[in-house]
Amino acid sequence: MAAPAPVIAVDGPSGTGKGTVCLRLAEVLGWHLLDSGAIYRVLAHAALARGLDLEDPAALAGAARSLNLEFLAGRAEGVLVLLDGQDVTHAIRTEVAGNAASRVAAVPSVRAALLERQRACRRAPGLVADGRDMGTVVFPDAELKVFLTASAEERAQRRYKQLKGKGAGVSLPALIKDITERDERDRARSVSPLVPAPDARVLDTTHMDIEAVFDMVMGMVRERGLSR
Ligand code: DC
Repeated sequence: MAAPAPVIAVDGPSGTGKGTVCLRLAEVLGWHLLDSGAIYRVLAHAALARGLDLEDPAALAGAARSLNLEFLAGRAEGVLVLLDGQDVTHAIRTEVAGNAASRVAAVPSVRAALLERQRACRRAPGLVADGRDMGTVVFPDAELKVFLTASAEERAQRRYKQLKGKGAGVSLPALIKDITERDERDRARSVSPLVPAPDARVLDTTHMDIEAVFDMVMGMVRERGLSR
């Protein structure tokens, strides 16, 4: 049997530059991209829209199993996310959707329901997988595992600048509180907690700009012989 397509797993909390690094890696290498956070966000969005109880594991797992989700890549404006054929690209990026995503993601039966869907994204010539448990649970045999970190204050600052740039009214202390709470929930959950795989390369990006982070990760990719 042919060897499975190679995977680069990039894990870590949000605000570490993970999303940007993965998008660029996929572009440069010409590989597929899995934004696993977007799956949890779409599920959370669907659950909220349908009035599901976020404390009801059976209802959430049912919604996860029947989730009609599509990612349309290769467009100039970025990846388009569709739920039941409706464009939810922007709706899933709100703080409300992010917090709800972190709650639904803590439910073991939800994670189990979404596992095969994520593994099915592993296709030639390769996959860049962005998430929290890509290197530990979804692709434990990934060719390269990177874990990006940064202090909560720095990550809140980055998010603050991003939201300000979009003209949103936000408060920095509220963002720091939100990020700290979300990290705590993601790290403390019983299934697939946010921890680096034992064989992951851990990179603290607190004092690095995105170019430097990308260059470092690209260096690791070359070292592993995944790109020239
Ligand atoms: O990366 P993100 O902010 O889009 O992820 C949203 C939430 O989804 C995050 O708080 C935790 C959860 N998540 C997860 O549990 N496992 C993943 N592989 C990706 C995201």
